[in-house]
Amino acid sequence: MSDNFDPEWLQLREAFDAPARSVPLALMLAEALPARPRIIDLGAGSGALFRWLAPYIGRTQIWTLVDADGRLLERAFLDIADAAERVGWTVTLPKPEVMLIHTPVGPWRVEAQLADLAEAPGNLKLDQADAVVSSALCDLVSRPWLDRMAAALNIPFYAALNVNGREGFSPPHRDDRLVAHGFRKDQRRDKGFDGRALGPDAPREMARAFRAEGFRVVTAPSPWRIPATPPTMVETLADGHAEAARRSLPRILHPRIEAWRRHRELQAARGVLRAQVGHVDLLALPAAMAQTARTIN
Ligand SMILES: C[S@@+](CC[C@H](N)C(=O)[O-])C[C@H]1O[C@@H](n2cnc3c(N)ncnc32)[C@H](O)[C@@H]1O
Repeated sequence: MSDNFDPEWLQLREAFDAPARSVPLALMLAEALPARPRIIDLGAGSGALFRWLAPYIGRTQIWTLVDADGRLLERAFLDIADAAERVGWTVTLPKPEVMLIHTPVGPWRVEAQLADLAEAPGNLKLDQADAVVSSALCDLVSRPWLDRMAAALNIPFYAALNVNGREGFSPPHRDDRLVAHGFRKDQRRDKGFDGRALGPDAPREMARAFRAEGFRVVTAPSPWRIPATPPTMVETLADGHAEAARRSLPRILHPRIEAWRRHRELQAARGVLRAQVGHVDLLALPAAMAQTARTIN
């Protein structure tokens, strides 16, 4: 695994992810699943997708959270337990690696699998799963990885919050294009998944890969709209763009990137910087289940 994901960043983005996600697509997935679904969450991080999706599935369910970062998986257990207890549900640990959340609609079982997804699908227990899900992961993977995954699955594949390249800050700045160019180059850098990362091509490439295997693919927009206040998210986002641009562009351009970053930082502090980031949620259903799918975009 080439990149680490800061737990504070995952916590910050969760508040923007939740309202962005497509509820109709989640309900379509829930409808396609059996009575007691077993779900594998790829790149689960600190468990944000579980916290959002499990209530829409709304019945007894069994999740395996897969990630290469053990700290994030530990954090996922803590954050899931906190969220459950906040709404008054009891949490038990029948084994150290298994958590049970006792909800009014039945128990939700959560397990963790520490694994490098570069080796997926070979290291996943697909024969014991009813769906493979992910969130903010598939822009990191490569085309060969995706093709292998699509060829291995005969169960639903749900991938939320895949960037589509439609992003921008406002008000405009003369070096927006330069920073965006560097950011885009960095998005396509190999992230350890067997080749160039898909970046903003992820939605289109996922649709292609799963349609080629006979799946019915449904997509829905899930954009972030980031307001000027509070400024933490928009400032973190601008900082991340500048850092990515510095990483991928020649040194001679770094002073311009730094000037852009400082300008954006001041705008964020004055409460005038906004941003939007385009995402797409995608659901691929095997042909046999596809009659439940309607077009929603
Ligand atoms: C952008 S984060 C998304 C986390 C979570 N799904 C969410 O929506 O908050 C990407 C996640 O993928 C995990 N990841 C990246 N490369 C991985 C790999 N090769 N194997 C396993 N996990 C990986 C990271 O540790 C991180 O938790």
